[in-house]
Amino acid sequence: MNKTVTLQNGIEMPLLGLGIYAPGTLDEVSNAVAYALAAGYRMIDTASIYKNEEEVGKGILKSGIDRKEIFITSKVYNDEQGYEETFKAFDRSLNRLQTDYLDLYLIHWPVREHREATWKALEKLYTEGRVRAIGVSNYYEPHLEELQTYAEIMPMVNQFEFNPFLFLPDLLTYCKNLGIQPEGYAPLVRGKAEDNEVLNAVAQRCGKSTYQVLIRWSMQHGVVTIPKSVKKDRIEQNFDVWDFEISEEDMHLLNSFETQIRVAEDPMSYL
Ligand SMILES: NC(=O)c1ccc[n+]([C@@H]2O[C@H](COP(=O)([O-])OP(=O)(O)OC[C@H]3O[C@@H](n4cnc5c(N)ncnc54)[C@H](OP(=O)(O)O)[C@@H]3O)[C@@H](O)[C@H]2O)c1
Repeated sequence: MNKTVTLQNGIEMPLLGLGIYAPGTLDEVSNAVAYALAAGYRMIDTASIYKNEEEVGKGILKSGIDRKEIFITSKVYNDEQGYEETFKAFDRSLNRLQTDYLDLYLIHWPVREHREATWKALEKLYTEGRVRAIGVSNYYEPHLEELQTYAEIMPMVNQFEFNPFLFLPDLLTYCKNLGIQPEGYAPLVRGKAEDNEVLNAVAQRCGKSTYQVLIRWSMQHGVVTIPKSVKKDRIEQNFDVWDFEISEEDMHLLNSFETQIRVAEDPMSYL
């Protein structure tokens, strides 16, 4: 399995990265970023609303790894959206992260009254070369359909909640047909799935933990995957997923869960 995917504009994006939403304390963030980079991760997913961009920046500095080798994603939050507001939000994120460009900038949620103007601002940031790729988050088919009516540049990435308890094959196909790379958040179902019998049986057959199986399942769907942990051993474990493969049969079992678990808001409430 390749460790990167190529976005529609030719940019290479790591297939596996560290998510860093809602850790217990801010001190944990810079350490977690440094542990991840030492373990081989080259992508960090943050957002202005996580209020930890500064610590992410510190963790990157602490790692001693060249900024250019690291793929940094941030997002414009709902109350920062609008054309002019987005430029200000982008600058604030850069300042906090201590960098002069982002690898990927996403609209965090499709806020109805602002999403068109916000997308226009992202297109401008991209055209000006201030960000290497632009995209959206929590966009389902109706949001992407609408976006096509005004976008001059299509999103390179769509980040949405994705795991066997929220398997969205139609959305994957929809994105892929438009050349949009899917990126899955909450791949570990925030720890709510470890008692699932099918998942445990697959993990046993693979000789891996349920967490590693969840990560591998997402990656085998061609989805960029961003598990969050602030603990060194878990960060390392979550990256140790390159030496096994879930069989077709077991993929099918994991694709067929009837129970739905959603840990974040439903994007359909943003129509
Ligand atoms: N675009 C959006 O709207 C959106 C929404 C939600 C999330 N995200 C992004 O996606 C990332 C991942 O999603 P998430 O943080 O919601 O959930 P997640 O990655 O599914 O789960 C994280 C939880 O699992 C625990 N964990 C991690 N590795 C583990 C392991 N090996 N064994 C046992 N427990 C483990 C973590 O605890 P410890 O930290 O204590 O290890 C944490 O409580 C976020 O951090 C964020 O970057 C984006």
